[in-house]
Amino acid sequence: MARIIGGIGSSHTPTIGFAVDQGKQDDPVWAPIFEAYRPVRDWLETKRPDVLFFIYNDHVTSFFFDHYSAFTLGIGESYEAADEGGGPRNLPPVRGHGALARHIGQSMMAEEFDMSFFQSKPLDHGCLSPLSVMWPYEGGWPGQIIPLAVGVLQFPIPSARRCYKFGQALRRAIESYPEDLSVAIVATGGLSHQVHGERAGFNNPEWDREFLDLMIDEPETLADMTHARYAELGGWEGAEVIMWLVMRGAMPEHVNCLHKSYYLPSMTGIANLLLEPAGAGPETDVKAQRALIGRQLEGAEALTGTYPFTLELSVQAYRLNTYLHDMVKPEHRKLFLRDPEDSYAQAGLTEAEQTLVNNRDWAGLIHYGAIFFGLEKLAAVLGLPNAAVYAGMRGETMADFQKTRNVPGAVYSVSDIKV
Ligand SMILES: [Fe+2]
Repeated sequence: MARIIGGIGSSHTPTIGFAVDQGKQDDPVWAPIFEAYRPVRDWLETKRPDVLFFIYNDHVTSFFFDHYSAFTLGIGESYEAADEGGGPRNLPPVRGHGALARHIGQSMMAEEFDMSFFQSKPLDHGCLSPLSVMWPYEGGWPGQIIPLAVGVLQFPIPSARRCYKFGQALRRAIESYPEDLSVAIVATGGLSHQVHGERAGFNNPEWDREFLDLMIDEPETLADMTHARYAELGGWEGAEVIMWLVMRGAMPEHVNCLHKSYYLPSMTGIANLLLEPAGAGPETDVKAQRALIGRQLEGAEALTGTYPFTLELSVQAYRLNTYLHDMVKPEHRKLFLRDPEDSYAQAGLTEAEQTLVNNRDWAGLIHYGAIFFGLEKLAAVLGLPNAAVYAGMRGETMADFQKTRNVPGAVYSVSDIKV
C-alpha cells in the first residue's frame, strides 16, 4: 500500500531556479534561499520518497485560456522543462509515476472531483523552480513525480476549502494504491506577493508568518478564508497559497513541523515548511475505496466488442491518437494523402501503427487504443463515410452494415464528402 510520509510547502518563484542555474550558493544575496532549502533537501535525501506529488500552478505557459481547468493531473510518464520565453532550463526530463497518477485520477473522479488530465505538456517554474533546489538532478532526478496543476489565475478558481477537501480525498486515493510506495506531498506557491497593477510589490511578512503557523495547527481557519481575504492579506497573486491546503488536507490532523523558514529578497516571500505526520492519520478503508473506484465500470468488461477509453489507453496510444487528431490540420492531412510514409516518419509512428493506418484496419486501430473520433477524421480525409468504419470494425461489408440500419440510405461523414 502506498503511504504519505510527509508534506512540504514551498514558494515557487522563478528566482529560486535562477539562483540554482547561476550557481549562486555562495552569493550573500541568494545564499539564504539555499540555506532555507537545505533541511528539505536533506530530508528528501534521507527519506528517499519514491514519488513526489507536486502541486503547483502553471503561469500561462503550458495551459492557456482557450481551455482552463481547476485541477489538472499529470498522468504521463515523463515531463520536460517548459520554455517560458527565453528557452527551457537545462534540466533533464522528470519521470512521472503514471500508474499511481492514473489511480489517483480514478479515485478523485469517484469522489466527485471533476478532474482534467494532461500528458506531454512541459512544466514551468511553478513546478521545476522549487523542485530543482530540493532534489539534486545531476545525472537524473532521484525519483518520480505526479504533477497537479491548479488553475488559480482565471476566476472563478477553487476555494481554499475545496483545496483542503481535495487533499483529504488525495490521501484516500494514495492509500488505496496497492503498490508499496512512499509518497511526499509538495505544495507550492506564494507567499505574499502581488505582481500586477498599482499594488504590485505588495508584501505582508507578518501575515506570511501567521499563515505558516496556521498551516501547521489551524488549517480549518485557512480553509474558511475567501480569495478576497487572502488577496487583502497577502496580495492578489499571493492568494495562490490556497494550493498549500491540498498538501495539508492530505496530512493527518496533527503534524510535527521539522522545518520552517521565511526569506523576502524581492517580490515574493520565499517560505519553506516541512511536516511529518504526528501519529496516525484518518484511516483509509482501502477495500471500500477500491470498490468505489471500480464501481462505475463494474460489469462493463462483460460487454463484448466494447473498449472503454481509459487513462491507461489514452497514455498507451497517445502518439497514434495525436496523429489521428492532427487530421484537423490541413497541412497534416495533405501530407498524409500525398506521402503517407513521410507523414508517418514525421509523427514517429511505429511499424505496427503504420500498418494499422495503411490497412485501414478499423478494428485493429480500436484494439490498439485509437479513439473512434480519430478514426472518423481519418475516414473523412480518405473520403469514406462513417459507415465504412462501422462496417470495418464489425467485419462486414458496408452494404451489409447498412442493411442493419432503419434507413439503409442514410450514409454520412463528419466532413462534406461525396457519399
Ligand atoms: Fe505562481
